Amino acid sequence: MVKVLYIDCCIRRDQSRTRILTEAVLEALQAKEAYQVERLCLMDEPLMPLSEGFFAQRESLLAEHDYLHPRFRYAHQFSQANRVIVAAPFWDLGFPSLLKLYIENISVDGITFGVDERGTHGLCKAERLLFLTTRGGDYRNSKLEMGARYLGALCEFWGIPRFDVVAADGLDLGREEVKTILDCAIEEALTLVGNF
Ligand SMILES: Cc1cc2nc3c(=O)[nH]c(=O)nc-3n(C[C@H](O)[C@H](O)[C@H](O)COP(=O)(O)O)c2cc1C
Repeated sequence: MVKVLYIDCCIRRDQSRTRILTEAVLEALQAKEAYQVERLCLMDEPLMPLSEGFFAQRESLLAEHDYLHPRFRYAHQFSQANRVIVAAPFWDLGFPSLLKLYIENISVDGITFGVDERGTHGLCKAERLLFLTTRGGDYRNSKLEMGARYLGALCEFWGIPRFDVVAADGLDLGREEVKTILDCAIEEALTLVGNF
């Protein structure tokens, strides 16, 4: 059984176009017996930033190698997944800070990555991470796009060898029907997960 962790950061929930794209992908995966999808909706989680006491607690737990503390549950869940799907809209040239908060919570030395004299190395099991996003403007091949590029770099950090992104660009430009753009992105994503 291939364990797929779906991280939902579609802040607008049922209004979200990113979710429309993602649900089509999940439906296709769930139709196959080989995949088991676990959903993590970030909007429903009590995620906290690494600040003050919460940061200090992490430092002392890690100093004691106490990796079983409940606060590390997100990191364990992430590191054990065989595939990861992240869905988030394009906000402020990147993605919502809620996703950064999640990233901050799962990037734990000793769980998702390790450090030795040669540098850092990833500890995650996942072979692939697929990022699904929708953008108001058209940022294809733009150096201003920081969300997908950052997640791609993090995959290297976490030891996930393959990173793919499917983006529906230009949804707020009015140049093309939203449905046309979304259908095109759905088709691209379905082809990608045909062999996930
Ligand atoms: C807070 C916020 C920030 C946004 N920032 C950008 C941006 O920097 N560039 C852009 O092209 N669109 C931006 N947008 C538009 C969204 O990328 C676009 O509407 C997207 O499809 C929203 O996804 P959703 O329908 O899944 O919520 C922003 C929208 C919001 C609400």
